Amino acid sequence: MKYAFFSDVHANLEALKAVILDFRTEKIDRIFFLGDAVGYGPNPNECIELIDKVSKVKLMGNHDYAALGLMETEYFNQYAAESMAWTRDSLERNKIEIMSDFELTAKVGDFLLVHSSPKEPQMWHYILDMNDVEDNFKYFKEKVCLVGHTHRPFIVFKSEKGDCVISHKTEEKIQKNQRYLINIGSVGQPRDGDPRSCYLIYDTKSHIVRYKRVSYNFDETQRRMSALGLPGYLIERLAVGR
Ligand SMILES: [Fe+2]
Repeated sequence: MKYAFFSDVHANLEALKAVILDFRTEKIDRIFFLGDAVGYGPNPNECIELIDKVSKVKLMGNHDYAALGLMETEYFNQYAAESMAWTRDSLERNKIEIMSDFELTAKVGDFLLVHSSPKEPQMWHYILDMNDVEDNFKYFKEKVCLVGHTHRPFIVFKSEKGDCVISHKTEEKIQKNQRYLINIGSVGQPRDGDPRSCYLIYDTKSHIVRYKRVSYNFDETQRRMSALGLPGYLIERLAVGR
């Protein structure tokens, strides 16, 4: 079976549609969403509807949490807060209901899925460096933990000896004697310098995890954001993936 894990769509419908088309090309059997359906982008309602249609497992992201009014936006930067105010005003009632059912964590076999960090999923910590990685390995028992949230993909494995090693490859075979913390990247607002959407494929037969990058029409997303008066900084960053 082939699993797809995707995250951080951020109301970018063009990116989401391109990635869903790619799921078909890749003949994905099961699809898992790791949070942040909304925030930043121009199509929150359409994205919630599509995500709900394609994936059975749906996790809550910090922007989804904020959009539901479960937390305030004082920790958001000015652009995120501005777009969140617009998102809250734009959400349809039935989409709010769908999003209310998003979960904080999920288990798929020996994989733990969480938007931000296994340490405290509802505190929305960022895993930014190797210290954060090493700390977070203490907070899950599963073989593999998948996260999103920073919009920057990485694969770190922990050897039997306990060393944490970062992989610079775009695919890795999950080894029997190692554990893994993997950031699956972002569909709707990549920040690793590559503007293409990013998601992760896991093949249950070969035990290989593989990043997939998908080009999409970001001009269209930018055009819609401009028309809605969303912040210029959020519009510009889509073209550069930063
Ligand atoms: Fe996000």
